[in-house]
Amino acid sequence: MKLIGRGKTAEIFEYGQDTIVKLYRDGYPEDAIRHELRMSQLVCSLGIDTPQAHEIVAIGNRHGVVFQRIHGAPLLNAMIRTPWAIRKHAGTLAALHYDVHAHRAAGAFRQQKQVLADAIRAAQPLTAAEKDALLHYLQQLPEGDALCHGDFHPDNVLIGEKRWIIDWMTGMSGSPAGDVARSVVLVRFGTMPSGTPKMVRGIIELLRSRLLNGYIKQYLQLSGMRYDEMERWILPVAAARLAERPDAEEEERLVRVVRQRMSAIS
Ligand SMILES: Nc1ncnc2c1ncn2[C@@H]1O[C@H](COP(=O)(O)OP(=O)(O)O)[C@@H](O)[C@H]1O
Ligand SMILES: [Mg+2]
Repeated sequence: MKLIGRGKTAEIFEYGQDTIVKLYRDGYPEDAIRHELRMSQLVCSLGIDTPQAHEIVAIGNRHGVVFQRIHGAPLLNAMIRTPWAIRKHAGTLAALHYDVHAHRAAGAFRQQKQVLADAIRAAQPLTAAEKDALLHYLQQLPEGDALCHGDFHPDNVLIGEKRWIIDWMTGMSGSPAGDVARSVVLVRFGTMPSGTPKMVRGIIELLRSRLLNGYIKQYLQLSGMRYDEMERWILPVAAARLAERPDAEEEERLVRVVRQRMSAIS
């Protein structure tokens, strides 16, 4: 099978006519795979431009979801190819994210504050007292019922004949401000896979702050959200990110920012 893409959880291969298979790594929990299939179908039924999800298949010891094939490339690739147009790319990211948040997400979706609380409890580097304080802080943030992606970043947007949003495993119902904060945390503190070429690394480092500024500014403009409404989610979102076992460098950055912010509020 021909490999056409790779993410942190899976590899994507050509599979039949106009379909691909997203093949999870060996041992990846099957209920998580079923959850991705269900979320993708649900989001598709809301009218979001996301590839149709067909079925689960087993290939060797691995499981995968068969999706409609998108002829296009991740927005991240466009950013690296045309870094001088970063403002425009940041605007595309902001506008698409704003469109997602215009949808209401009812019953079947997980609730953002619940997802964050579970992740904070599971965040290994934090002490029990820190977790208690974070959970208390989280409780006071507003509850929302907007459709949130939960992992919205430039590698989960594909640009083809349309703009497609993929990778809905973490789809949830919540406050757009929290979902934007999640994107900010991913872009600000995220590290690149170990095989990333030096040149690409260099370009991404240069783009990081301009992408962030452009994305935040344009999202706030479109939505009328205030900066501080987004900003107060950074603390719980950064803490929750620790549960995903980021690499040592990202973990260190996250722990530092979580402790700084906690000391500022206590
Ligand atoms: N339906 C699709 N059609 C074409 N390419 C895809 C499709 N889904 C994913 N890809 C490619 O594979 C990459 C990883 O897919 P993704 O679902 O985001 O995996 P992960 O959950 O591991 O991040 C994408 O960035 C994209 O390049
Ligand atoms: Mg992805």
